[in-house]
Amino acid sequence: MTTTITITGAGGQIGYALLFRIAAGDLLGPDENVRLRLLEIPQGLGAAEGAALELQDGAFGLLEHVEVTDDAAVGFDGCDLALLVGARPRGPGMERADLLAANAGIFGPQGAAIAANAAPGVRVTVVGNPANTNALIAAASADGVPAERFTALTRLDENRARAQLAQTLGAPVHTVRRVPIWGNHSATQFPDISHATVGGAPVAEALAQIVGDVPTWLDETFIPRVAKRGAEIIEVRGSSSVASAASAAIDHVRDWVQGTEDWTSAGVVSHGEYGVPEGLISSFPVRSVDGAWQIVEGLELSDRARARIDASVAELVEEREAVRSLGML
Ligand code: NAD
Ligand code: LMR
Repeated sequence: MTTTITITGAGGQIGYALLFRIAAGDLLGPDENVRLRLLEIPQGLGAAEGAALELQDGAFGLLEHVEVTDDAAVGFDGCDLALLVGARPRGPGMERADLLAANAGIFGPQGAAIAANAAPGVRVTVVGNPANTNALIAAASADGVPAERFTALTRLDENRARAQLAQTLGAPVHTVRRVPIWGNHSATQFPDISHATVGGAPVAEALAQIVGDVPTWLDETFIPRVAKRGAEIIEVRGSSSVASAASAAIDHVRDWVQGTEDWTSAGVVSHGEYGVPEGLISSFPVRSVDGAWQIVEGLELSDRARARIDASVAELVEEREAVRSLGML
């Protein structure tokens, strides 16, 4: 079998990190061939064409074909999986929402081009920031494609949260589970340890032995560290996260396609779950079942959790209002 995968912004940093892992089989496994479509703007075509030459030189057995284009109709033609990466990254001192004016205009036309050209079961993952609201815009412009097929990447935040917990607890990261991200991929996001386990035991109990006052550690250390990790990376490396973002995008799409045994996190359309207004693309605890994300329902939320989720969702509502006032919704 062959899967057609479109990567927008393929000439950029994250695109470069993604392409070779996909070609090597990290996304869909060793038995699925891939056809890559690299969609760029004219200024990015040279970099994407160079990446295509290098893909050829990689002699990847699973890679059937690579096409480089700046025409969205060609870029999304027959695509099964779309990774919408192409967008400006933020610089030091900016919030991701500051990118709205620069980037939001990209996602309406791409949503429309997906609806017109992609395969019927297309699944879309938005990486370009602000990812939740860009996914909302793309979904709203994709007539006939269910909004459930448009998602925003928050897996990087979850991976960061699990890694911070693993480091604090001195435990292997794979033993830390059920750390969902709620809300927006922004500084208001809520990485939630209420249901988290380490080696099958509650994380909160293990943390109490190490940090003492767990609520204070969560509020003053853990949550800000995770929520502001993107800004920390920008400050330390001089530009925004690349390989960790590509790796999280691969985790997200792989789990969407192949299914999950446990919870993870994804920005998905709300149908009103947990009081999140219908239609917003918010991060939730999710499972992937039969190729579709399902929100994990029925979790009890403490007052602290409720307040944090409400604050992040309020920001998503504000972003939606902002793009409405820009005429993009
Ligand atoms: P980059 O500047 O290196 O690459 C962006 C590429 O997108 C460029 O090659 C540019 O030519 C291309 N591009 C711009 N507009 C386009 C369009 N309309 N169609 C197709 N291509 C277009 O940036 P990067 O470091 O690869 O980051 C890309 C985006 O991903 C940024 O918005 C960044 O903030 C975001 N990001 C999100 C996450 C996340 O977890 N959601 C993590 C890291 C980065
Ligand atoms: C990240 O979380 O690393 C990305 O969203 C890039 C950024 O602007 O922080």
